[in-house]
Amino acid sequence: MKTLLELITIEMEEAFLKAGYSKELAKVTLSNRPDLCEYQCNGALAGAKTYKKAPFMIAEDVAAHLKESVYFESVDVVKPGFINLKLSPDKAAAYLNEMAGEEKLGVEEAKEPKTIIIDYGGPNVAKPLHVGHLRSAIIGESVKRIARYKGNRVIGDIHLGDWGYQMGLIITELQKRQPDLPYFDEAYEGEYPEEAPFTIGELEEIYPTASAYAKENEEYREKALHATYLLQNGYRGYRAIWNHIMNVSVADLKKNYEKLNVEFDLWKGEADAQKYIPDMVQMLKDRGFARYDAGALVVDVQEETDNKEVPPCMILKSDGAALYDTTDLATLVEREEDYRPDEVIYVVDKRQEMHFTQVFRCAKKTGIVRPETELKFLGFGTMNGKDGKPFKTREGGVMRLENLIREINEEMYKKIMDNRTVEEGEAERTAQTVGLAAIKYGDLSNQASKDYIFDVDRFTSFEGNTGPYILYTIVRIKSILNKYQESGGSLEGLQIRPAENEYEKALMLRVLKFNDVFETVCEEAAPHKICAYLYEAANEFNKFYHETKILSEEDEEKKAGYIALLLLTRRVLETCIDLLGFEAPERM
Ligand code: ARG
Repeated sequence: MKTLLELITIEMEEAFLKAGYSKELAKVTLSNRPDLCEYQCNGALAGAKTYKKAPFMIAEDVAAHLKESVYFESVDVVKPGFINLKLSPDKAAAYLNEMAGEEKLGVEEAKEPKTIIIDYGGPNVAKPLHVGHLRSAIIGESVKRIARYKGNRVIGDIHLGDWGYQMGLIITELQKRQPDLPYFDEAYEGEYPEEAPFTIGELEEIYPTASAYAKENEEYREKALHATYLLQNGYRGYRAIWNHIMNVSVADLKKNYEKLNVEFDLWKGEADAQKYIPDMVQMLKDRGFARYDAGALVVDVQEETDNKEVPPCMILKSDGAALYDTTDLATLVEREEDYRPDEVIYVVDKRQEMHFTQVFRCAKKTGIVRPETELKFLGFGTMNGKDGKPFKTREGGVMRLENLIREINEEMYKKIMDNRTVEEGEAERTAQTVGLAAIKYGDLSNQASKDYIFDVDRFTSFEGNTGPYILYTIVRIKSILNKYQESGGSLEGLQIRPAENEYEKALMLRVLKFNDVFETVCEEAAPHKICAYLYEAANEFNKFYHETKILSEEDEEKKAGYIALLLLTRRVLETCIDLLGFEAPERM
């Protein structure tokens, strides 16, 4: 179904044509003075020059042809030549009823669905998840859901960091601690043990110890680098250790992402790109893209129009080891082969922007991707503490994701118990649901590229622009609907009626904008615009609720009309939070 903005634009185009002007001028937008009108058209101003006429006169001519339109309650021409439009209450109600009959609430699916790969999450195996990975997971998950809602074929890939130096470090440290393990015996030809020689807890301790030690011990570092090289080049014993590390870490990661309501279609990683590297390197050499620079193999990606230096893409280090650029390029080779994506979106810390500029340029110039493949970098800002510095624990260490989640959930639990609407056991589950909303909404309500302050008190508040406030509003609607049913009302076949008061009208206007808002959100991959919409919708609902007798309304038809509006409002709100990646409890 067409969005209301589209329908009104069609009306406007006809009016421009009938008045003798070009329909190109008939652009309608949401009003920026919602107190005066809901929609507006500024085309008369733009047409003044062409038609050598005062904009006000053009606007008057056009408005004359809009007077009979069934869409508008009023059409006002305002100096110097704006056309202000107020939607007719009948049309609004009719549109909402039509929306209610649509599975996707009036959003039209893409006519030519795209294949889109979203590269997000990006945790590094064997290192604990920290809050830096939180943003990628939260934003990526939402962007994935949005693109999917539009009807695209969307594939979420976690792209594990599982092929770098950290693996060499773990291998080296393990050898230092348990030199007798068969993995380190070059002569060993038997099967390696199935059981890993470490637990996840040990693994998480091994990495930081090794990393710190390598910084002060040259010999140890060299060993770790060489172990990385051997691993990448297929040394059997190290590959077996790598498998253990993967099994232990991935099981742990899955648990953590599940708690975040983040779900990947692919659990691929840098290591999966390895098998594409030799051919890719050969191609880069054969076709003259690559050159040697101080022993390293590089591809130049500087362009004439650059006003700053863009260093070459690093393909192989002088010792032959693959690098971050290499695995990202080879992953594109793999993705091209497996999926031929129309678009690849990387949701990564914006400090990595240069890396992606290099990789994208190199992939385009060397034909690793087709010229029409869109490579997009969705860089996000830093999550800071209240002191404005990157979020840390109280002791000043890197905050682990699980601890952050625990802290929020505890805070939520206290608040929910204070409310006394749910039993202890349920309160715990509810605290998790609401806690997740607090974290995700707190993050997503900011434009992704901006830094933001993670403020536990603010994010867990039931008031203001927060996740809990949105959920509270949904719970309130659910509770009214339940009471309506308990007193014998049926939720089937109800019709929304034309608004009777300004609060009802405001709510209706907000709800019917859902598909228009969604289009923008989808085009711009901008979850924060869903949050802004949700917040306004929740506010409008709550005003309506406070100003209107709903359940105690005596006119049954009127009451049923309200209930129909509530049903649709709930669906829209629940769809929005689902797009953000969280859900609402029954009570809170
Ligand atoms: N593992 C990387 C990190 O922690 C993020 C990976 C992002 N994705 C990619 N294709 N490079 O910084």
